[in-house]
Amino acid sequence: MMNKISSHNFSFCLAACLSVFAQPQGVAEVKMGEKKQKEFLTVPPFECAWHEELRFSEAGRGCVAFEAFAHNDVTLVFREQVGSQHYHYKMDTCPNYTVILGSHRNRRLKIEVDGKAVVDVAGIGLCNSSAFQSYWISIYDGLISIGKGRHPSQDLVFQWRDSKPNCNIQYVGLSSWDKHVGYRNVSVLPVTQHQSFPRCHIDCKGHEGEDNEDVGDTVVARHGECGLQIFFESWELSDVFFIVGDGEKVIPAHRVILAASGKFSFSTTDECFIHLPSVTYPVLHSCLEYIYTGRTRIAEPELSSLRDLSVQFQISPLTKHCEEIIDRFKMNKKLFDSGKRVELMYSDPWVQHCGIFPSELPLDVQKLQHFFLNGDHSDVSIYIDGHGFIARAHKIILSIWSAPFSKMFTNGMLESKTSEISLSDVPAEAFLLLLQFMYSGKLEIEDETRMGALLVPLLILADQFGIRSLHRECCNCFLEYLSEDSVCPILRAISSIPSCKFLEEACVRNFSRHFDYCTTASAEFVLLEEGIFRNILQHPDLTVTSEEKILDAILMWSMQAHDIYSWETIDKLLISSKPHLFKDRLPLVESLLPLVRFPLMPSVILKKLEESFISSELPVLDLLVKEAIKYREFGVTISGSNQNARFQHRRSSFKELQYICDGDNNGVIYYAGTSYGEHEWVNPVLAKRISLTASSPVSRYTDPKALVSRTYQGTSFSGPRTENGRSCAWWVVDVGQEHQLMCNYYTLRQDGSTAYVRSWALQGSLDMQNWTDLRVHENDQTICKPGQFSSWPVHGPSALLPFRFFRLIMTGPTADASNPWNLCICFIELYGYFR
Ligand SMILES: *[C@@H]1O[C@H](CO)[C@@H](O)[C@H](O)[C@H]1NC(C)=O
Ligand SMILES: *[C@@H]1O[C@H](CO)[C@@H](O)[C@H](O)[C@H]1NC(C)=O
Ligand SMILES: *[C@@H]1O[C@H](CO)[C@@H](O)[C@H](O)[C@H]1NC(C)=O
Ligand SMILES: *[C@@H]1O[C@H](CO)[C@@H](O)[C@H](O)[C@H]1NC(C)=O
Ligand SMILES: *[C@@H]1O[C@H](CO)[C@@H](O)[C@H](O)[C@H]1NC(C)=O
Repeated sequence: MMNKISSHNFSFCLAACLSVFAQPQGVAEVKMGEKKQKEFLTVPPFECAWHEELRFSEAGRGCVAFEAFAHNDVTLVFREQVGSQHYHYKMDTCPNYTVILGSHRNRRLKIEVDGKAVVDVAGIGLCNSSAFQSYWISIYDGLISIGKGRHPSQDLVFQWRDSKPNCNIQYVGLSSWDKHVGYRNVSVLPVTQHQSFPRCHIDCKGHEGEDNEDVGDTVVARHGECGLQIFFESWELSDVFFIVGDGEKVIPAHRVILAASGKFSFSTTDECFIHLPSVTYPVLHSCLEYIYTGRTRIAEPELSSLRDLSVQFQISPLTKHCEEIIDRFKMNKKLFDSGKRVELMYSDPWVQHCGIFPSELPLDVQKLQHFFLNGDHSDVSIYIDGHGFIARAHKIILSIWSAPFSKMFTNGMLESKTSEISLSDVPAEAFLLLLQFMYSGKLEIEDETRMGALLVPLLILADQFGIRSLHRECCNCFLEYLSEDSVCPILRAISSIPSCKFLEEACVRNFSRHFDYCTTASAEFVLLEEGIFRNILQHPDLTVTSEEKILDAILMWSMQAHDIYSWETIDKLLISSKPHLFKDRLPLVESLLPLVRFPLMPSVILKKLEESFISSELPVLDLLVKEAIKYREFGVTISGSNQNARFQHRRSSFKELQYICDGDNNGVIYYAGTSYGEHEWVNPVLAKRISLTASSPVSRYTDPKALVSRTYQGTSFSGPRTENGRSCAWWVVDVGQEHQLMCNYYTLRQDGSTAYVRSWALQGSLDMQNWTDLRVHENDQTICKPGQFSSWPVHGPSALLPFRFFRLIMTGPTADASNPWNLCICFIELYGYFR
């Protein structure tokens, strides 16, 4: 039987189920404070109750005492601010501590820091479904204490210290998991450092002797929690069973997991019992725990049995581990008290553990990928509507990564029994990548050209199926591909995905730093959403060569231009196309215009704007321009307030160094010689403001000082060197580590020779590795006399890219056949926007 599940509707479906449970005795009505004695509060499943009064008087320090009535999962959340009522399926990254009494069907106590389990112990502080129980939880600079009973600081049952305490948490949320939790008599009390907790020793016996009467019970995965650890000794999805010792104890496991971690002798048929009469339960338990969680503890005398078992099943990392420790014991018997439990850990103890391979679990990823390709041990076939069969997979692998899949397979309903699922509204190619990720832990897009097309659907899928690490990988990929050219398409793609805020911020920043380029190289930015465009315009790092550029961009965006226009062109268009050039964005243009800092514009431009048609059409513009003119003339504003950002210079602004004529004093190299306008001119190479390098070694005729000395040199050249098997000659100008130039003009001067340069390029770079052509000359005949000056503009969007290094490189021989590869220039100057 085929079971249709639309992945599109999947989270919707989940939400709908939840709201069915959510009952009208909602949390909003609850009143705390004085009336608390009388109040009952029932928190419906998957909700959380917050209240302004439920807060510690001092951030990071306080105690909450309460009574609770529940089957399981009495959950308290501690945060810096109040949170959302539906916190379980809201992507919310606010730091928090979460304490769960009676998690895992009321068998364990759990503490989570920012959603990651840091404590998970059996049998402590459990719930009681037949009567209200009193509890208290106190937090003091990361020391979390939990007690049972009416009196805080008495009857401590558990204590844990956060090594990186969150001292900002203040609000207490009362929450639940999949059952209603009743709370009453909730009060928040202060705690002091010296408040003494009776020294009650807590014996965390670890996992020893967990009761197994209710072995058929389901261990429900908490939403958002995944990892293999939740399937450790779980009957969910199990398809192989160990029978150990005399007691014939049965322990469930999962074939594909065992097969990927070692060599277990189960045939591919239905033979699903592995009899181990001579192995004791604690030893097998440890072995499985190591596989499923990446770590285990075992009593020292049992270490050699564990070693033998790992040899038998060829779990080589475990064998190695056991042997190392056994050797250390042999070397120094006093090292450990005999009888003590030793800890074996597969992964670095510092990594936050959540039981996901490849880094955290001893699973052979190559074997897993092989099982995926061949369908070995597979228990589910996946189909996609409109595409057909996609792959044979393993429910447990899917469940490790994805809580929605885990839920689908373990909810005891139809989907959990079927061996075929069909998804609709899922892009097949991206979904296959998602599956491959689940088997390798890596994102591998072989065809780089498909990258752009696949990342967005993949990111959406990662979100839909709750695979956080894939989500992260996708975001990293985007960041890697982020450049001035890709920032617009990326912003458009991710703006619909709410969980990509971080990436969005990086893009907005990048866009605002390259504002001129991004709004000139293509008109794609007009497709950005209003909110994002506004964020760019308001970004503190916004860098522009002139305020006019911002005005141009706002007008282009508002008319949804297909081409690049200046405001003057738009002014003309407006005359002819009246009245609806801005269509539905007319109100937006008015709200965006105040983001242009008109007072920073030159008076001539303001005058032109004042007289323009566009000002008469847009009253807001007219007002802003008049205000700016007045401000420039009299230093006063119409409103009387010049505190507005409109009147401030932009933090990151470039200085315009404009070309006037050949050999003028307006270029960057001259400016550097005056220490950027501070002093009399000195040679900028000697003053170490500018450095120059040539393709040939420094000599009498190849002298960086001479090139910027502003005096004519009869012989000055850079000689050729061989690069990639070709002759080439070049000069590189470095304007300094702290500086950048958007170069829009440059000047050269021929030395006394007739070796005129004919084919060359001016290039820019930020790192001396990647060079961008600014202007390419092919057989350019401009220079035709010794000592001649020549200047050229740099056109197009590349004139708006800031660079630190500029290279003048010959790409063909000079006009002098006897001296074809010397770059014979005795002067260079660059112009543009400098900072
Ligand atoms: C706790 O922190 C994690 C990680 O930032 C987050 O995913 C989760 O939503 C937070 N929980 C609450 C209730 O704020
Ligand atoms: C639960 O509460 C009832 C009534 O107070 C009590 O008899 C019982 O022992 C409690 N059970 C546990 C496990 O504390
Ligand atoms: C609240 O707690 C106090 C003692 O801390 C107790 O006397 C009172 O009965 C409790 N209220 C309810 C409604 O149980
Ligand atoms: C924009 O992003 C690219 C790629 O991450 C990066 O190399 C560049 O430095 C960023 N530019 C700015 C100004 O943030
Ligand atoms: C140069 O650019 C290419 C492609 O844009 C990139 O792969 C490479 O890493 C860059 N090199 C350096 C040194 O930044």
